[in-house]
Amino acid sequence: MSQRDLHQGGGSLFRDDGQDGLLHRAFLRAEGFTAAEVRRTPVIGIANSASELNPCNAGLRALVEFVKEGIREAGGLPLEFPTISISEPFTRPTSLYLRNLMSMDVEEMVSSSPIDGVVLLGGCDKTVPAQIMGAISANKPAMMLVAGHRPISCFKKNKQFTVDDVWPVCEQRRVGEVNDADWLELEGQVNIGVGTCNVMGTATTMAAAAEMLGFALPGSTLQAAGSPARNELARAVGRQIVANVNANLLPRDLITSASLENAFRVVSAIGGSTNAVIHLEAIAGRAGLSIGTDSFEAWSSTTPYVANVRPGGAMLLSDLDEAGGIPAIVNRIRELIHTGSVTATGRSWEDELNNFEFVEHPSIAPVGAPLSERGALVMLRGNLAPRGAVFKAAGAHDLALQHHRGRAVVFDGIDDLNTRIDDPNLEVDKDSVLVLRGMGVLGAPGMPEVGHIPIPAKLVREGVRDMVRLSDARMSGTSTGTVVVHITPEAVAGGPLGLLRTGDEIELDVDSGIIRHFLDDSELASRTPLANPSTARRGFAWLHQQHVLQADGGCDFDFLREQMKGELA
Ligand code: FES
Repeated sequence: MSQRDLHQGGGSLFRDDGQDGLLHRAFLRAEGFTAAEVRRTPVIGIANSASELNPCNAGLRALVEFVKEGIREAGGLPLEFPTISISEPFTRPTSLYLRNLMSMDVEEMVSSSPIDGVVLLGGCDKTVPAQIMGAISANKPAMMLVAGHRPISCFKKNKQFTVDDVWPVCEQRRVGEVNDADWLELEGQVNIGVGTCNVMGTATTMAAAAEMLGFALPGSTLQAAGSPARNELARAVGRQIVANVNANLLPRDLITSASLENAFRVVSAIGGSTNAVIHLEAIAGRAGLSIGTDSFEAWSSTTPYVANVRPGGAMLLSDLDEAGGIPAIVNRIRELIHTGSVTATGRSWEDELNNFEFVEHPSIAPVGAPLSERGALVMLRGNLAPRGAVFKAAGAHDLALQHHRGRAVVFDGIDDLNTRIDDPNLEVDKDSVLVLRGMGVLGAPGMPEVGHIPIPAKLVREGVRDMVRLSDARMSGTSTGTVVVHITPEAVAGGPLGLLRTGDEIELDVDSGIIRHFLDDSELASRTPLANPSTARRGFAWLHQQHVLQADGGCDFDFLREQMKGELA
């Protein structure tokens, strides 16, 4: 096919009077669009990550038609296109391993397609940050519509069975306390509908961040998948993206130090996932900013934890939605929020809050009585994690473990862990510190969510439910416990974690933000660091090994971050 102009981009190509415009319109007419439809403006792409290989996003197929209706109502022309989709449970070695690839897919499709703006349809954990990262780099007006959380179910006597309830049953199964019939019943009850995890896991955390960053409509995050309200929301998103294109509301203008702070303060207030630390750093980097461990900790330590929802709290996402959703949280911590920041409506948070009616609700701790005076995520440092680590205080089971000194039991990778963790001869007791290494962004590769190391079976049988666990891995936002993750640098990148041996003393002091060992320099120098096992020589695996940054760089590829304007103060 012959093209006359290789520089003209966006939807204006459909309005071109020459050969290129003719061909653009002609090819769309072949799909069944009318002569009037191919002349509508603006042209809005819909990046749809619906996939049978990503059940959390399967409901997006139904939502897309409502988005198209909204775009047409506002005069635009909707054109849907697929992107790759990353499922948290299905993708190996890990979903994070492919997040940057998905962001590149989104960036290049948005940049190179004849569209003026884009609606991003995502949901499962990595799809939302990947789409936002790609949209920032492409820098055309973009809005996010997430899949919404799936319904809760019922298992045995638990009438409000949510995804975080699955993990204790799995642990019981490991020690022979769940029979085959119950195991089969559980399979049918984990997910009784499509949508994202039905607690404050990574998916909902990142959806809330999208709301705070001006990509998702205020109040949209917590509407359930499959609800009539979400269909109406999809229509509203379609109308709004047309308005945002007309107003030239660009992603890079949305990502500011103020909006990033707003996003992380809300993540801190809702007991959000540790994964948010990595994704927000990556998102900042696409706009030439870096948040950094110190800013994360400064924001979290001065933000009260107020959302009483699972897995850290007692209530459901639908309860928080009833209370007003994320705007209600913003209102609760209003004095900490930069309310002049722009939302996806183009109005400020100040204006949006003035439009909401707020009521007291048990899903949000009242002023003067937060669940915790500080945010749920604690950034740690120390000689074991010179560039940081993350601990999620929300939902921690045994508070005494937050100030703990114990003997390390070290596992080199997931195979070693699986082989030995339930060995009756494993030398471990309830005061031991379980250490898993070689699971970082290079070592695994892609930082699998295995940081929630299982309690050794023999200790489970003794009634032990929590232990101090450390790793350079990530953990699911649906998990809880005394778990330190994202130890940076990771073991195979020269981090001190790679020099530990079983028997070494380790101290965790959450109040002081310290994670440390007691080895002196000469002892450390005598030890052999853990090597990077990668043998990648080609393809994406090679690209990943050559260019991925550590957790404190958001695990983005170095060449995808925008030139740095600086670290936030
Ligand atoms: Fe997809 Fe939790 S596994 S959102």
